[in-house]
Amino acid sequence: MFYEPSSGHDLPNNPLNALVVPRPIGWISTLGPDGTPNLAPYSFFNAVAYDPPQVMFAATSGHRSGGPKDSVMNARKSGEFVVNMATFALREQMNASATPAPREVDEFEHVGLTTAPSAIVSTPRVAESPAHLECRTNQVINLPSDDPDDGNTLVLGEVVGVHIDDRFIVDGKVDLMTIGPIGRLGYLDYVEVNNRTAIERPTWP
Ligand SMILES: Cc1cc2nc3c(=O)[nH]c(=O)nc-3n(C[C@H](O)[C@H](O)[C@H](O)COP(=O)(O)O)c2cc1C
Repeated sequence: MFYEPSSGHDLPNNPLNALVVPRPIGWISTLGPDGTPNLAPYSFFNAVAYDPPQVMFAATSGHRSGGPKDSVMNARKSGEFVVNMATFALREQMNASATPAPREVDEFEHVGLTTAPSAIVSTPRVAESPAHLECRTNQVINLPSDDPDDGNTLVLGEVVGVHIDDRFIVDGKVDLMTIGPIGRLGYLDYVEVNNRTAIERPTWP
C-alpha cells in the first residue's frame, strides 16, 4: 500500500508508530513549579549528539486541561529534566506514569516508585531504574501541527550527569541483557531487549 498522511489511510489504526521501531522510551522526570515531581514516558525520544551529549523528547499533543504536557512545561520552566531508563521489569509503572494526572499529583507516588536525588540537577530520579541521564534543557522547539490549539513540541537537553547502577557494569560494558530495557513498537505493543548481535563496522579499503 501507499498513502499520503495528509489524505489518510484505510487501516483501522494509524500504522505510523509501527514503522519507526523499536523506539527507546525516555522515561522523563521533571519538577513542577510548586516542586511536585512529575514522571511520564515519551517514545518520541532519542540521543542526538555525543559531544556534548544531547537527547530529545517530543510531545505530540496538548495536556488534557489545555496547554503543553507537564513534562514539556516543567522542562522549559525549570530548565532541566532526567531520563530514567525504562525496563521490561518496570513496564507496569512506566505505563501507569502515562496517566494524565492533574499537575499537582506526584506521579512517583501515584505509580508506587521511589525518588532518588540527582547529583547535579534538582529533578529527582526513579530509584528503581538502572540508569539515568541528568539533563539541562537547551532548546524547546514548536513543531508544525495540524491543530493550532494542540501543538507538537520538541525538547532538547544536554546530558550533564550520567548514573549507571554498578551491578550492571560487567567487563567494562553496560550489561543490557541483564537490564532488559523496554522498547516501544506500534499500537499497544512493546519489545524487551533480550538478545543481541555484534556487527563489525566496515572500513574503506
Ligand atoms: C510507552 C509510551 C510512550 C509515549 N510516548 C509519548 C510521546 O513520545 N509523546 C507524547 O506526547 N506522549 C507520549 N505518551 C503519552 C504520555 O506519556 C502521556 O500523555 C502523559 O500523560 C504525559 O504526561 P505529562 O503531562 O506529565 O508530561 C506515551 C505513553 C506511553 C505509555
